[in-house]
Amino acid sequence: MTSVLPGSTLGILGGGQLGRMVTLAARTLGYHVIVLDPDPHCAASAVADRVVAARFDDAHAAVELARASDVVTVEIEKIGIPSLEAAARIAPVRPGAHVLYLVQDRARQKDWLNDNGFPVGPYWTVHSASELADASELAGPDAFVKSTTGGYDGRGQLRLAGPAAAAEAWRQLGSRPCVVERALPLEREISVLVARRPGGDTVVYPPAWNHHHEGVLDWSVIPAPIGADIAARATAIGAGIAASLDVVGLLVTEMFVLGDGTITVNELAPRPHNSFHHTELTVITSQFEQAVRAVCDLPLGSPEVVKPAAIANLFGDMWLGGATPRWDAALAMPNVRVHLYGKSPRPGRKMGHLGAVGDTPDAAVALAVEARRRVRDATRAAGAAPAA
Ligand SMILES: Nc1ncnc2c1ncn2[C@@H]1O[C@H](COP(=O)(O)OP(=O)(O)OP(=O)(O)O)[C@@H](O)[C@H]1O
Ligand SMILES: [Mg+2]
Repeated sequence: MTSVLPGSTLGILGGGQLGRMVTLAARTLGYHVIVLDPDPHCAASAVADRVVAARFDDAHAAVELARASDVVTVEIEKIGIPSLEAAARIAPVRPGAHVLYLVQDRARQKDWLNDNGFPVGPYWTVHSASELADASELAGPDAFVKSTTGGYDGRGQLRLAGPAAAAEAWRQLGSRPCVVERALPLEREISVLVARRPGGDTVVYPPAWNHHHEGVLDWSVIPAPIGADIAARATAIGAGIAASLDVVGLLVTEMFVLGDGTITVNELAPRPHNSFHHTELTVITSQFEQAVRAVCDLPLGSPEVVKPAAIANLFGDMWLGGATPRWDAALAMPNVRVHLYGKSPRPGRKMGHLGAVGDTPDAAVALAVEARRRVRDATRAAGAAPAA
């Protein structure tokens, strides 16, 4: 029996909103939680028992976390590999360092997917401005250039219209190795969530449908309104990757669906993911509870979607001119819920999400987006009202 039972302590590398939501789920199950984060006031700090305030490449701090934990997991990819290895000598680290090593580098990740027979779109890895120009020639007049390390939420990447702009693009991305991808004609973006225990027991959630705005997730809905054939192929790809990589914990695979039904893998995230926050609404086991179960080697819960649910992300711009948003405008709508991460607002920063439940995926999305619009309108109206 290897289960880490409730009453034990879960260590989380990273204390952002994902760590906070895992912490809440872990506490509901009766665990103690310690998080490691550079910011002592990180989003998870309000709900964790303790914060180890340290950089993600501080191996001594990772050891300190592991000493106080029965099992350690991650909520962010950019943890130093030496930190993970040092922690793993003291407590199980799930997923393992080999998984984080793979996903920390886009080129390495794409090569692995390609070499292991998983579908990826055309891409080229480049190490100089002239290699970038050559790749752009091959990719065609619309390409994405993404630095191999460090990007998230559309940062560390740009759109390239042809070789003429390559030198400037190379400079803008910091003169670092990049992956060039042909811009694909996306019919839809979906993601697949897989949870896996140490012995290989696996559950796969129905795919989510994700809508991005300027490279950042704007809303997501489960189940994705896609045909059974695409759903079956997508879930097989996600489960296949999780098994081949021997992931313990969660693995989210972001995928592109093209007009002809082709599926390609965009990227992997071995942790809870923004595109499955709606699992807290109408799915029997939320991704956060499932993460705890998987890394603690407990029986996995059902991924059944009882009713369609959507989330719309809330960014820092909702705090118009520093005003507190009128959340009451969303809460006045039946079937809508508010989830805030307790972070201080900055433009573009993910601050929370609105959840909505509908009879169909489209209805759930429409409700979540409408709730967000009403909050914005009400906040604006309150700001415009003359002082009493
Ligand atoms: N090759 C491509 N063809 C078409 N669209 C693309 C391509 N690459 C990226 N995109 C668009 O940009 C979005 C963000 O890309 P990607 O996932 O690589 O960036 P990211 O910074 O890691 O984002 P995140 O952290 O939000 O997942 C994708 O979800 C998609 O909408
Ligand atoms: Mg992405």
